[in-house]
Amino acid sequence: MTVSHAPARTRRVRERREPAEPELLDGPGLTPEQTERALRGLERVNRLLLGYRPVVAAALPRLAAGPAAQRLVDLGTGSGDGAARVARAAARRGVRLTVVGIDRKLGHLAVGRRLGRRQLRVVADAAALPLRAGACDWSLSSLFFHHFDAAANLRVLDEMRRVATRGTIVVDLRPGRLPYGLARLLIPLVGACPVTRHDGPASVARAWPLDALRRLTAELPVAELRRRFPFRWSLVLVGSGGLSQPPAPHTRP
Ligand SMILES: C[S@@+](CC[C@H](N)C(=O)[O-])C[C@H]1O[C@@H](n2cnc3c(N)ncnc32)[C@H](O)[C@@H]1O
Repeated sequence: MTVSHAPARTRRVRERREPAEPELLDGPGLTPEQTERALRGLERVNRLLLGYRPVVAAALPRLAAGPAAQRLVDLGTGSGDGAARVARAAARRGVRLTVVGIDRKLGHLAVGRRLGRRQLRVVADAAALPLRAGACDWSLSSLFFHHFDAAANLRVLDEMRRVATRGTIVVDLRPGRLPYGLARLLIPLVGACPVTRHDGPASVARAWPLDALRRLTAELPVAELRRRFPFRWSLVLVGSGGLSQPPAPHTRP
């Protein structure tokens, strides 16, 4: 398959919204203790408010249809809990998944290490992955897309497609009054810390609607772009970005 790898800035897309309030977890101001509380809080929110479900649902059928050993790179992995759940679900279907977790914050990867999440950890910016083309079978991101504007997301998608031979899976929040209101109401009820209470609704406010996503990805090989329960969407891009030769399946990234 020949896929255009034109620089993101040459693609004309409409922005989906004005820049919204940044998330505290992304800022420089948190202590290591606050960071750990926030990442644990995010895990609890994902677990209790069914945030992992759409990620596993989007990834698992594709992983299960592939070989018995595969590699997945998870961008913006945070503590790595989401990717670990995908790996456990894949293992139940007979697929041994090696996870490479990418995050630009060492402190977030360190929390994942302390919590025992199994992955190879790499500190890097998602727009410039230190992996060779085709290093992994799959690239994944969850609760990550809303961090970026159109041009930055296209750069990140280019990177995701460059490093993954089988495809790219992206899952994120859907915007709207109802998800925003529920985030404000429910996140405190599951015992999240102040950072997570702030960042949950702030993430919904920055979320991409499906119609803007459709426009943004119009030139990409979209296999799936759909709503996922509850208040998420999943995007799956097939194949890789212009690789002529898939790599040997079990070499290190
Ligand atoms: C909201 S957390 C999502 C964590 C996890 N993926 C989940 O689903 O719960 C977003 C993560 O992306 C990381 N991040 C933000 N911008 C990034 C970038 N440009 N490159 C790599 N990681 C980034 C943050 O440090 C944070 O750990």
